[in-house]
Amino acid sequence: MDFTDIIEFTKKPQLYAEGNTVMWTDAHISKQLLNIHLNQDIDLASRRRSSIESTVGWILNSVNMEKMNILDLGCGPGLYCEIMTKRGHKVTGVDFSKNSIEYARKEAMKKGMGIEYVNQNYLELNEENKYDLVMMVFTDLGVLKPHEREILIRNVHRGLKPGGTFIFDVLSDRNLDTKVSERTWEMEESGFWKDSPCMILSDSFLYLDEKVILYQHIVMDESDNFDVYRFWTHFFESDDLRKMLEPEGFENIECFDDVLPEIDMWNGENVLFCRARKVGIAYRGTEEDSR
Ligand SMILES: C[S@@+](CC[C@H](N)C(=O)[O-])C[C@H]1O[C@@H](n2cnc3c(N)ncnc32)[C@H](O)[C@@H]1O
Repeated sequence: MDFTDIIEFTKKPQLYAEGNTVMWTDAHISKQLLNIHLNQDIDLASRRRSSIESTVGWILNSVNMEKMNILDLGCGPGLYCEIMTKRGHKVTGVDFSKNSIEYARKEAMKKGMGIEYVNQNYLELNEENKYDLVMMVFTDLGVLKPHEREILIRNVHRGLKPGGTFIFDVLSDRNLDTKVSERTWEMEESGFWKDSPCMILSDSFLYLDEKVILYQHIVMDESDNFDVYRFWTHFFESDDLRKMLEPEGFENIECFDDVLPEIDMWNGENVLFCRARKVGIAYRGTEEDSR
């Protein structure tokens, strides 16, 4: 094992320097992730069931439109898609995790739900004027780097019908310095990161001016592999979101910090939900359509 490389990775890196691997599409990790998504009692990968249900209730109330065409970006195993479908909407879920999409498709088939699941990178989405509502839940927008965020917002804008709604959540920048975690290490015989013995060094670094915290995990195993996972996590206040969305053709941009119960960093007042409307008049059908 080359300790010089490991020492380099334990120093505070330049903003947005890449790790050497990604988590969501790794075969072993994506199996662990699916189990965590489906665990109803913890708020990791997906929020717990009660929060998911209340979030769906809040989203549907705040858009208040029947029979919507909905797109769920980063849908994971389809937990939100299924509830939206049960409430009478037509739903498409997009995720680049094969494992989650395969699970979601099987579940929809078993339950006789006509949900369309697409295994795709949402940065490559290329649809136009199709959706009444695009949603992206569990603070995923905040892990995109600024240029990726721009691509995503343009894709959402293009995919929405005029007057359509974009709803997403981000981590709030309140008390940012308290959100930095301490350096820790762990040994595992097999677990989340690997199915063989490994050592994990976890660390985080604050970039105050940019309101970014890098959460980093270095995973080392017996075969001298070392994988560096980097999560560049952005924190926002409502004004940041307005400045981000307005130039891209959104209006009526509103933020809410009371959608979720207070539990931990990923919930309650630490999370801002944002609702924005694509500029334009929503097409709500004619009498002829409903005949
Ligand atoms: C934190 S999980 C949230 C899943 C789901 N929204 C929920 O709350 O149950 C983020 C999801 O986004 C997916 N994802 C991350 N980056 C993506 C990308 N570039 N394109 C498509 N899916 C992506 C991951 O595979 C993962 O399922």
